[in-house]
Amino acid sequence: MTTLYLLSVWLHILAAVVWLGGIFFLVLVLVPVMRKEPDERRKALFLYAVGEQFRRISWTALSLIFVSGIFNLAYRGFGLSDVWNGRLWQGPFGRAFAVKFTLFILVIILSALHDFVIGPKSTRLWEERPDDPRVLRLRRQAGWIGRITMVLALLIVLMAVMMVRGWPGFR
Ligand code: HEM
Repeated sequence: MTTLYLLSVWLHILAAVVWLGGIFFLVLVLVPVMRKEPDERRKALFLYAVGEQFRRISWTALSLIFVSGIFNLAYRGFGLSDVWNGRLWQGPFGRAFAVKFTLFILVIILSALHDFVIGPKSTRLWEERPDDPRVLRLRRQAGWIGRITMVLALLIVLMAVMMVRGWPGFR
């Protein structure tokens, strides 16, 4: 069981690294560099291709994070009944986990909005009417969702560290 648990925590952290690293790379490197590209068509095609490829990686990583996270909780003695009887949310571990899980749900909602609503809508509109001002608005919205997700990811990792090592001033 211990080996399986170690593998699960390893997978959890690895998937988080891939997901987080990808978001940071997109927001801090790729998008700012692509903004300098003068050819609008080349820029749009490249960004959409990158977005589509990363979408597959990020949803796979988020699924692995969720499944391994449930396994980690099970190893720590938490089951489904503890969600309802409140045991899962108690103490420094439970408190940090509650914040982390809420942020995780927010990330899922924002990512779904970005990947399945705003992204496809802006691609469709850009293909039909590239000069429509709504294309720019949708792209800006997608950019903001990316930045917000990056901040949420930082907070999630902080909560993950506090889950394991304790909440400052709370024993
Ligand atoms: C994007 C979302 C997430 C990220 C980035 C993330 C990241 C991490 C990291 C970096 C750790 C290691 C903390 C440390 O050892 O200091 C950790 C631990 C843990 N995570 Fe997550 N996590 C996420 C979502 C979840 C979810 C959804 C669950 C539960 C369903 C979960 C359950 C756990 C548990 C139980 C541990 C403790 C592992 C142990 O030491 O036994 N995590 N997480």
